[in-house]
Amino acid sequence: MIILPKPDIFPSEITPKAIFEQRRAFLQKAGFGVVAGSVALFTHPLTAQAEKLAKSASQSRPKFSGIKKSAFSTSEKLTEYDDVTSYNNFYEFGTDKSEPAIHSKLFKAHPWTVSIEGEVKKPKTISIEDIYKLAPLEERIYRMRCVEGWSMVIPWVGLPLAQLIKWAEPTGNAKYVEFVSLADKQQMPGVNLPILDWPYTEGLRMDEAMHPLTLMAVGLYGEVLPNQNGAPMRLVVPWKYGFKGAKSIVKIRFTEKMPVSSWMKAGPREYGFYANVNPNVEHPRWSQSTEKRIGAGLFAGRIKTQMFNGYAEQVGQIYAGLDLRKNF
Ligand code: MTE
Repeated sequence: MIILPKPDIFPSEITPKAIFEQRRAFLQKAGFGVVAGSVALFTHPLTAQAEKLAKSASQSRPKFSGIKKSAFSTSEKLTEYDDVTSYNNFYEFGTDKSEPAIHSKLFKAHPWTVSIEGEVKKPKTISIEDIYKLAPLEERIYRMRCVEGWSMVIPWVGLPLAQLIKWAEPTGNAKYVEFVSLADKQQMPGVNLPILDWPYTEGLRMDEAMHPLTLMAVGLYGEVLPNQNGAPMRLVVPWKYGFKGAKSIVKIRFTEKMPVSSWMKAGPREYGFYANVNPNVEHPRWSQSTEKRIGAGLFAGRIKTQMFNGYAEQVGQIYAGLDLRKNF
């Protein structure tokens, strides 16, 4: 049985419009373009209090029941719930890691529909409730590696993307799949700023999208996906850098040509289409050979990053013959 998410409303958490407008004007004057680092764009006046509220609110989120456990799960120690839900990248809600949990509190992730477009037999739309019903929901514990050099182990709830693609009925011309996130200026303060080319878009090759490890996540830790983690539905591709995992998806488009993602547009030398985790190919500004496991403690030290994030056995063969230095 699935209990549907109800919006949590905390009116005290709204950033006053005047303050937001002021910051926006300042940033526009300052000529802000691409921001690929962790720069706080919205300093919330009540950050500490808001963070506390964000955590207590998330404790009462609706839970899924009867989820089957997946054999694809890692047995590594899980990253704490509080870290998974308070250390996020979701630039539509701010570029500092603590901002998405705060600024997404009023975000309405329900009702929600996803439109299916492009190379399909017939364009159509599907509600999030119907997506829940396409296949039995599974818990998949995946290692997740961010391009910035940190990692987490997250118990996702979701369904194989392949099931959704089967329902979408792509034509024989479909070689790629593009995922488009919501870009709502009213609800998402970051979309009013030229941080990325909105809406956030990402893409996969068709065989990557159909791979059994590729998940359409609708929850984590057994509960409905928190807003800051991409409610109500986000992509999870565990052998790729985290930025592939488009959040709050509203459109899935099948294409013949390789889609150009928001990150490829922002920095083509730094962010490639494949984005496979690869300790041997450095990011132009830093090494990718090690990672910091979030929550492991101050003295834990960095751990070695594995090829394809440790999923080489399952996915290595789909890249046979591809030069991974050129196709990063
Ligand atoms: N999706 C959207 N729509 N907007 C974003 O800014 N950030 C990406 C990805 N998906 C992002 C997004 C990046 S850079 C990462 S590392 C992951 O989401 C982070 O997911 P998490 O916050 O749930 O760990």
